[in-house]
Amino acid sequence: MFDKELLKYFSNLETPFYYYDMSLFRKSLKTLKQAAKKYNYNVHYALKANANNRILETIKEYGFGADCVSGNEVQKAIEMNFSPEKIVFAGVGKSDAEINYAIDHSIFGFNSESIEEIEIINEWAIKKDKIVPVSLRINPDIDAITHDYLTTGLNENKFGIPLPFLDKVIEKTNHLTHIKLIGLHFHIGSQITTLEPYIQLCKRVNDIQDNLLKKHGIELKHINLGGGLGINYEKPDTELIPNYSRFFETIHKHLNVQKNQEIHFELGRSVVGQMGSLISRVLYIKKGIKKQFAILDAGMTDLIRPALYGSHHKIENISKQESIMKMVKYDVVGPVCETSDSFDNNVELPKTERKDLVAIRSTGAYGEIMVSQYNLRNKPMAVYSDELLKKNSHIDILI
Ligand code: LLP
Repeated sequence: MFDKELLKYFSNLETPFYYYDMSLFRKSLKTLKQAAKKYNYNVHYALKANANNRILETIKEYGFGADCVSGNEVQKAIEMNFSPEKIVFAGVGKSDAEINYAIDHSIFGFNSESIEEIEIINEWAIKKDKIVPVSLRINPDIDAITHDYLTTGLNENKFGIPLPFLDKVIEKTNHLTHIKLIGLHFHIGSQITTLEPYIQLCKRVNDIQDNLLKKHGIELKHINLGGGLGINYEKPDTELIPNYSRFFETIHKHLNVQKNQEIHFELGRSVVGQMGSLISRVLYIKKGIKKQFAILDAGMTDLIRPALYGSHHKIENISKQESIMKMVKYDVVGPVCETSDSFDNNVELPKTERKDLVAIRSTGAYGEIMVSQYNLRNKPMAVYSDELLKKNSHIDILI
């Protein structure tokens, strides 16, 4: 991924920065588009994974919609020219201002998770004399088999309408004059690495749909199965592009689709994860009693996933060639005043020195977007492969 020419460019750049491989990104988007097209599935990109302009522009070029979880994300999608009829607005609690904004822009629909919120949407819709499309996000009580913090579809989670309440919510919604019930929405979690939870989800959706037909005589036009498809953090190079066709094929096999029904997905991580790397410089190699620390100029403010979820990203010393070097174990840490400011322990790297460049891989999703300025640290900049290579060796962003 990082050839000599690229390293030459990197060596002139101020670190840390996010590097985005736009050629890989485009390949991945093309694969996703073809895989979804086979079954006529609609894909909305989840902006929460990465909302950089260049990234959104590219995603839009391929015709995907936008999945938003805040008023600002809806605004961003509109500003980036996603067509409103391809924008969905989810989230466990939407403020009145956010509801207003989304109604005013006539988006495709709200994914709503409580009757309390739907009633407020209805109040605003009455005031604006508009009929607002709403899908019900249901909590299907299915284990996504992922990190606890990334699990959203179990009864104990705050998300979705509990299944036993569904009939009541539908009855109440039917009485609301300015709400049009258009679909069902599910999202059971993130970084899901086996397809089994999706098979369970499809079965649950089939049962729910059968019941709706029997009890209420309703067939809903839209089924949204959310996002969650995981990526290979351990060995990114073996799976730079997620296996979308296997994913959609599994859904196709297990989901009963009613006549004229449209199926939607909200993928985030799988779309942008592998194309991003956080590039950082080694500030110091510090000897401890039992350990050696490679102290980077990137910290938890630049990438919080390891500190927050204990997640592991592949870490590479890209200034040294692994095959010819002695390997040494390091705890790779950041400079922030927190013990949790550590990227990983006992990482085997070629013998590493001050100023070596290190790549923390698979950070295109939930990397830059979760940056903070704790300790008043600067935000890392974004570097796009296609812009960098256009500039030849004259780079404006020099140290
Ligand atoms: N739809 C809804 C309603 C969601 O809540 C999410 C993610 C997605 C779609 C997109 O899921 P994806 O395809 O990206 O898995 N910060 C965490 C991930 C949090 C995901 C939150 N919801 C991380 O760094 O792993």
